[in-house]
Amino acid sequence: MLNKIRVAVLCSGGGTNLQAILDAQTAGKIASGEVALVVSDNAGAYALERAKGAGVATAVFDRREVRDRTQREQAILGALRQHKIGLVVLAGFMTILSEAFTREYEGRMINIHPSLIPSFCGPGFYGLKVHEAALARGVKVTGATVHYVNEVCDGGPIILQKAVAVEEGDTPETLQKRVMRQAEWQILPQAVELVCKALLKKA
Ligand code: GRF
Repeated sequence: MLNKIRVAVLCSGGGTNLQAILDAQTAGKIASGEVALVVSDNAGAYALERAKGAGVATAVFDRREVRDRTQREQAILGALRQHKIGLVVLAGFMTILSEAFTREYEGRMINIHPSLIPSFCGPGFYGLKVHEAALARGVKVTGATVHYVNEVCDGGPIILQKAVAVEEGDTPETLQKRVMRQAEWQILPQAVELVCKALLKKA
């Protein structure tokens, strides 16, 4: 009988969402899972420093070294299997994953997106571009979504969402920071616990 789901977090950048998960784990808010591996396709990602600081194993398959996407994906899959990963968390991971990859982890892979899906999502909507689009449309409320990953970009079943007010004078940068602070860093750790708990019940 498993007592915790082994979690891998895939990051390409600063890793503030990874940090939120690690902090929630330290605070005892993730009882059903444990971060066992951090994977990055960017050797310079600060997320890797955060992992090392927390004593978490890392695996790096840099986009500039492993240029072939299929080869890179096979290497990532190998690391996930080697570490007996039960839940994959995409937290600002820039490599687009193939249908075969998402099928292997269907129901066991989640993603954080910085808008209230179905708004401002899908191909081309990532990072600051999401907030630029929200400001351009003039929405008064935006937020973040955690969803299961399937073969449709940002199209899997929604797990959690949290709304955030757009404020007068917001720039894409100020809005991004507020959405991260008030929504992403709250709902992603919550979703990790929810999904790990459900997976444990099925194990
Ligand atoms: C976050 O804004 C997340 O919504 C998006 O990529 C960004 C990752 O930021 N998918 P960080 O690396 O977690 O700081």
